[in-house]
Amino acid sequence: MAKPSHATWGGRFTAGPAELMLQFSESVSFDRRLAPFDIAGSKAHAAMLAHVGLITAKERDAIHAGLDAVLAEIVAGKFAWDVKLEDVHMNIEQALGRRTPAAAKLHTARSRNDQVATDMRLFFKHAGGVLREKILGAERALLAVASANRDVLIPGYTHLQRAQPVYLAHHLFAWLEMLDRDRARLADVIAHANWCPLGSGAIAGTTLPIDREFTAKALGFVDAKGRAQVTQNSMDAVADRDLFVEFAAACALFGVHLSRVAEDLILWSSTEFKFVELSDAFCTGSSLMPQKKNPDSCELLRGKSARLQGNLHTLLTLTKGLPLTYNRDLQEDKPPVFDSFDQSALCADVLAGTLAGLTVNRERCAAAVNDPALLATDLADYLVLKGVPFRDAHHAVGAVVRLAEKHAVALDHLPTEEVGKIHPAFGADWIEVFDLKRALARRTGTGMPGPAQVAGQFVRWKKILR
Ligand code: ARG
Repeated sequence: MAKPSHATWGGRFTAGPAELMLQFSESVSFDRRLAPFDIAGSKAHAAMLAHVGLITAKERDAIHAGLDAVLAEIVAGKFAWDVKLEDVHMNIEQALGRRTPAAAKLHTARSRNDQVATDMRLFFKHAGGVLREKILGAERALLAVASANRDVLIPGYTHLQRAQPVYLAHHLFAWLEMLDRDRARLADVIAHANWCPLGSGAIAGTTLPIDREFTAKALGFVDAKGRAQVTQNSMDAVADRDLFVEFAAACALFGVHLSRVAEDLILWSSTEFKFVELSDAFCTGSSLMPQKKNPDSCELLRGKSARLQGNLHTLLTLTKGLPLTYNRDLQEDKPPVFDSFDQSALCADVLAGTLAGLTVNRERCAAAVNDPALLATDLADYLVLKGVPFRDAHHAVGAVVRLAEKHAVALDHLPTEEVGKIHPAFGADWIEVFDLKRALARRTGTGMPGPAQVAGQFVRWKKILR
């Protein structure tokens, strides 16, 4: 026989929930981490209640002191969380009740629905900021690798086949572009989070004379001019989970970027490439093969991206087809968000650490880029400058490549007379095309890997990542 309910909502119940139901429905095991945000929200709400005269200044002060004491207990790890009280909100309210009778007035004009929506918006503003800092750290580590290897050239790849020469820095700056967009997406999430739902109540606001703008200001939900930003529809405010999806999407895309960076590093650190060596600190060995040094940090970065995508999918599926407004399903919105935050934060730090320990094998890079075939396109451009239509030029250079393959010599080792027989526009100066430094210097347009352009990007990134 179930015991009567002691829950805050227990008034209309004669029996409390079954033990199994308590276990099934509790969220305090994961939403307890919202405590600092929940308490900040409650303090602002109590201040507002006093401001409009729904509680006295004395009651507000007692609530504030009590909430401060509860938070101190939580931070010290001394708070006794109780699953019977379901969630973080009820645990804190009950703990406050043991400290002051004024606690019974705190939930005036408030529901857990607008409360949890507020907690999460505060969480997203915090989490977005933390991730932005951590990604910035990884970006700075990346810029340091580029700076230390400014003059290194490598082949760029398409289809994982050698394509054209680029500065290593140009390749690393491509990663920087990706990571910097991730940071911008998180800034968008923070901006979207910056609207206060408190006052929406359970679904339809309240009949009590509250001041939503006051609460919003107290919690920092303000625009650049300090004006309060409050949500504009009480039903949307308690049912909306777009931010959860946006945050998880930003993390998932960050994960995709991480996995692509990681994949390049895995390839580059293989014996076949050997462009880079990863530090021992971010690799592990094999329990069987003594010679192995495995790029585990990169493999895990690649693997974690699956998890980040999974979290996004969980949230999309969770919210699809839900009727307005709040449904208990929505309690399941938090574990994927917290996991995306925790794993993304960890990944950003691991990427920074992996990059900080990276050494570039200049000899191997030089050997790989010293392949005249990488400049076959430049040879076609040479013909174009002599007036040959590009399609004909492409065809002629193809024939030159075929001839080199036939004689089993490098492209730039073919006799000039032989090359001249393929197309009359090939002059004695055709061989100058294969001067690598000069070939790079010809790439002068914005976004190209020419030395002047890359130098410009160094200036740009130093400024952005300051
Ligand atoms: N723990 C709940 C959640 O995270 C809080 C909101 C509960 N609201 C309710 N009507 N039961 O969704």
